[in-house]
Parts: sequence; C-alpha cells; structure tokens
Amino acid sequence: MGASAPVRQRAAQLRKDIGFHNRRYHQLDDPLIADAEYDRLMQELLALEREHPDLKITGSPTQRVGAAPAAAFSEVQHPVPMLSLDNAFSAEDLTDFNRRISQRLGRENLTFVVEPKLDGLAVSLTYEQGVLVRAATRGDGQTGENITANTRTLRAIPGRLNGKDWPEQFEIRGEVFMPKQGFRELNERALGAGEKTFANPRNAAAGSLRQLDPQVTANRPLDFYCYGYGLYPADQLPETHSEVMARFKIWGIPTNPELHVVQGIDECFAYYNDLQSRRQTLPYEIDGVVYKLENLRDRETLGFAARAPRWAIAHKFPAEEATTRVVAIDVQVGRTGALTPVARLEPVSVGGVTVTNATLHNTDEVHRKDIRIGDMVIVRRAGDVIPEVVKSLPELRPDEAAMFIMPTHCPACGSEVETIEGETIARCSGGLYCPAQHKEAVKHFASRKAMNIDGLGDKLVDQLLEKQLINTVADLYRLNIEVLSRLDRLAEKSAGNLIHALNASRYTTLPRFLFALGIREVGEVTARTLAEQFRDLDTLKAADEMTLQTAPDIGPTVARHVFTFFRQPHNLEVLQGLTDAGIHWDPMPERTHEAALPFIGQTFVITGALDSLSREDARSLVHSLGGKAAGSVSAKTSYIVAGAEPGSKLDKALALGIPVLDEAAFLALCQNPASGAASTATATEE
Ligand code: IVH
Repeated sequence: MGASAPVRQRAAQLRKDIGFHNRRYHQLDDPLIADAEYDRLMQELLALEREHPDLKITGSPTQRVGAAPAAAFSEVQHPVPMLSLDNAFSAEDLTDFNRRISQRLGRENLTFVVEPKLDGLAVSLTYEQGVLVRAATRGDGQTGENITANTRTLRAIPGRLNGKDWPEQFEIRGEVFMPKQGFRELNERALGAGEKTFANPRNAAAGSLRQLDPQVTANRPLDFYCYGYGLYPADQLPETHSEVMARFKIWGIPTNPELHVVQGIDECFAYYNDLQSRRQTLPYEIDGVVYKLENLRDRETLGFAARAPRWAIAHKFPAEEATTRVVAIDVQVGRTGALTPVARLEPVSVGGVTVTNATLHNTDEVHRKDIRIGDMVIVRRAGDVIPEVVKSLPELRPDEAAMFIMPTHCPACGSEVETIEGETIARCSGGLYCPAQHKEAVKHFASRKAMNIDGLGDKLVDQLLEKQLINTVADLYRLNIEVLSRLDRLAEKSAGNLIHALNASRYTTLPRFLFALGIREVGEVTARTLAEQFRDLDTLKAADEMTLQTAPDIGPTVARHVFTFFRQPHNLEVLQGLTDAGIHWDPMPERTHEAALPFIGQTFVITGALDSLSREDARSLVHSLGGKAAGSVSAKTSYIVAGAEPGSKLDKALALGIPVLDEAAFLALCQNPASGAASTATATEE
C-alpha cells in the first residue's frame, strides 16, 4: 500500500533535515545536533521506508553516504565506493544482523574481526610503488576531496612503505582522529589565544585535516589507524581480513592494537562490554565497536546494500551527547564559597540517564561558549563525569534568549560576590556566615592551627549544623553540656571534654584568630604577617586596600579579600559574637627591628615539596622575617630549604657547599633565628 499524505510529508521533512545535517557535519565540520539525534532521524526515515517501500526514492539520504565534497578542494573519484556502516543500537539489532548473514551464508558461528569504532573521519590513501600518491576524504562515497598535501603532514601515515611485496597500486582505508590529550591541549591553546574551540575531537580532526593550508594540519595532533582497504588486486588478496591487516602492519601502516578475531556473536558481545568498560581510559574517542566478517570470500558472497556492506555492522555505545534546551541558569554556592553557574535543562536522556542539570563551570565559560537562557545546546555526559554543556546552537536561538549575569550578591546568604581580576571564579565573601560554607568554616575554625578545639570532629559539626544548634562559629561558644548530651553518640565525658576545649580556645593569639576566620588566601603565614603589621583587630578591620598592601608580601589580591571580608555586615556580626563570647588574646609583642627581621641580608632558595607549608608560604615566611627568597642557587645563597624531590637545585647547592635545611630545621630557624648555625647541616656530597 502507498504511504498516506502525512507520512509522505514526514518522510520529505526527514529527508530535508538529514540532508541539511549531513552538510553541517561533513562539509562544515560544525554539526548542529548531537550524533544521537541524527541517528534518530535516520532510523525514523529507515523505518518509514521499510513500511512504505515507495518512499525509498533515489537520492534519499538512506541510500547515500555523507555529503558531496566542498568546492574548496579538488575532487577525487573513488575507484571502489567508500561506504558507510549499518548501525546496531541494541542486542536485538545485533542478533538480527547475525541471523541475516548466517542464513545467507548457510553457516552458524561465524568468525568476526572486531575493533573500536573510532570517532574521526574516513580517509582513502592510494599507494603506487609503495609511495603515497593520493589521499581523499569519503565525500559522498563516490567522490571525495583531495587532501593529499594535508595528509602528508601526518606522522602516522607513511609517505613510503616498508618492504617491497606490496601491489603496484592499492588503496588503504582508515580513520584519521585526534587523541583526547591532543584535543584538550589544542582547545587550551585556542582558548589562550582567544580563538574558537572545537566541540569534540571528531570535529577537531575533520577541521584540522580539511584545511586549505597544510601547515595548519601539520601543527595539529592527528593520528591514524587503518581498518580496511579499497582498491586491491583480487588475485593478491589473502583469505582473511586479519591477514591483510598483518601485511599492512609490516609495511608500516598503523593498525589498531585493539583489533581481535572472535568466534560467534556472543564473543562480539563480550568484546563490546569489555571495550565499553574501558571507553573512558582509551586515549581516543570511540562511539562503538565494528564487527566485520573475517573471511573475505564470505564478504563477496554477501556483497553490499546501497550505503553499507552486508558483512559488517557498527554496534553503537549509548550516546554521550544529546541536544536539549537551557531553561534557566542558576548559581550554586560551593562549600568554599565558589559560585558555579548551573544550566537547568529540559530533561534529556544521555547514555541511558536522564540529565536535567549541567555544570557551566564559571562566567567566562558561559560567555566563551555563548550559552544563553533559552538556547538549544549539546550536552555531554561521559562515564560518571558530571554532565556539561559542550556548545550552544546559536542558529536555533529564540528571540527571547537571555544573557547570563553573575549575581552581585550570594544567593545563599546575600553577601557580596567577589571576582578577582584575572581569576575566573566568583566567590561569596560571607565566609563566616554563609550557610553554604558553614561546614567548612566551622571545621577550619576548630582546626589545630586555628582555634585548636579538640573533640569537634567532622561528624559532630554535621550534627550541630543539621540540628541547627549552631549557625555560625560564634554559636559554638553558647553550647553547654545539656545541649551536647542530646546529640547522638556523644558520651557525657566527650561532651565535657569539648566544652573544656571550647573554653580553653577563648584565650588565643591574634595570628591564630585571623587564620581561623578562613579569609580567602589568608593562610597561617599571611595571618601572622597581618597581625604583626596591624597589631590589633580594629586597625586591621579599618585598613583600606592600599594600607593592607603596605604589609610585607600582601599583594592586591589578598588585600582585596581581606578588605571585602571585613566589609560584610554578616561577617562583622559573627566577629562581634566571638568577641562577646570572650575570645581574647594578648597584645602583639613589641619588637625591635633586628628581632623582627632576623633574616635581613640572607637569601633562601626553597626547592622540592614541603609537608606543612607550600613553597609560596615558605617564601612569605622568609620575607616576613626580612630575608630574600630567590629562584635559583648561586654563591650568594645563604641556605637552601629542600623538601621532597628537590631536583637539580639541591645538586648545585651541594656542589657550592651551601647549608641545606630540611623543613623541620627551616621552621626551627624561623622560630629561633639565633640558633641558625647550630641547627644546619652543612652540605657535603655523600
Ligand atoms: S570499517 C565499508 N572499521 O565508521 C565501510 N569503519 O559509520 C567499512 N569507522 O565510514 C568501515 N572506525 O569512517 C570501519 N574500525 C572501523 C572504524 C570505521 C571508524 C568509521 C568509518 C566509516 C564509518 C561508518
């Protein structure tokens, strides 16, 4: 029966849409929809054509491969058509395939070659007398683009073959692809240069190979695996595919080490499962596996359908990408105060999981990817990684699409949002008050080098916050035995110990207290510098950014963090609460110039990884005591401070006989500079 008018219309629409997306993908290397979406359109059209054979007209995309070559390249006629592969999306599709070919061949338990389906682009390489004479893209399967000059720049593709028993003229088929690592680096470089990034390694590979300037291709990290052949003298072919591949390998043509020969469809499934479990760890992207009959005579018996051989099939993995709409962009506050824009999506299934949110990382990323509220976007969910938006599709943008603007005040607590110039992360400055940061703030406040409140472990902090027994660190000092004994699993003795530790912590030092506040980038060393410079809390609170920068080693970023912190009314409330709770300290000791700056005239080189300090902190410590911290060792170096894996600087210091300090000796020297010579071990070569 002929198809009804609505079915006809739908088929026509599908043909048009698929044709359009073919050009976007194959000619422009800039697809507008996720691959899974494209597959769905194609499957729908195939199903309609199966049901109504009169719809299967000449020129239907189901009968064709790819798209005609772009005009910018000269054309190459393929001596043997470059076909595509049929897809299996389910176990059922695959058993159907197996049944079909077993019936036609009249044999069960067939032998297959199996290998990853690389996500790159198909190329044909023609060798004459062992020399690469032509390279072409697949194009529409009959006519491809001449990319010989570009292809010659690929290290993986031999310009001249090893050995000499190759046919006079023959053609290799395979996939050019961009390994994941190279793709990441290429995009990072593009980002740095303010250039457009590629959405995925496939587009990057295609965009890099289909270049008018071979020099550009030469600088792109492209790789190649051969997976078959085109033109090849029939009388020189061996019996099996794997023998052909073994020959190619000897001639220096890269073949995929993941290629295996398996027996029967069950082993195909096992291979599929194994590869799927290793998908994330492979150095290149794959979108499934390909099964091909191993026996070449069987292939000939089966032959070809319009666009694909009957003897092979691609078994696709669940798609990692899908197209959907951004309905809103919300901002989440992390436990350290970082504000992350999150895209709220129309629910879409990606790799079998429904995705409704995707991280957008930061404002720069939102603008760089030009993602607006209301946009259609491609989302990606690879393995267990948090879903992310790969790219927006501005061509499909509705008029009412709106730009994302980072809020000026924290959505969790209303404190000011800070973005430091040159940094991409926006942060809430209400560290002491913000509910999103409570947990970290309390844990840090209680830690050993801060207020040193023994017995206030993570679990207890969780309970206190969950039961709303505390909201801020100031509330800790209102806890009593009675309240604490109501908590799960807290024995009376532990409760008593905690109250004791809280009481003891009321008497502290200004540096500890400043460190305990958890102001961004104010570590132990910086807290001490600030305490020494400003001497009391009120003076520090009042200092403007310029004044803050007069302290040794306080740059504009730290000054900005400190200044903003003390401008948040909520933070000041908490500070007041702490003062009211009786937190106090002795005035900072007066110090003479020499006592304060005992390292004047001395130069330190810090190398290797230290345990309790970052190298930056160690350098700050040296500066705060009047010394210089240098980057390289010379005869003028007074001490070298060596952590783990110190490298060549230590060797040089040893050679020059410069005193070497380990971390403990360095810290001892900082605390008691007079002990200097006694605690150093002068380096000798051992
Ligand atoms: S065999 C007659 N093996 O997938 C075609 N193709 O969707 C025989 N592809 O055009 C192709 N990895 O570009 C084969 N290991 C592999 C492959 C592979 C990727 C590509 C190839 C082909 C496309 C079909």
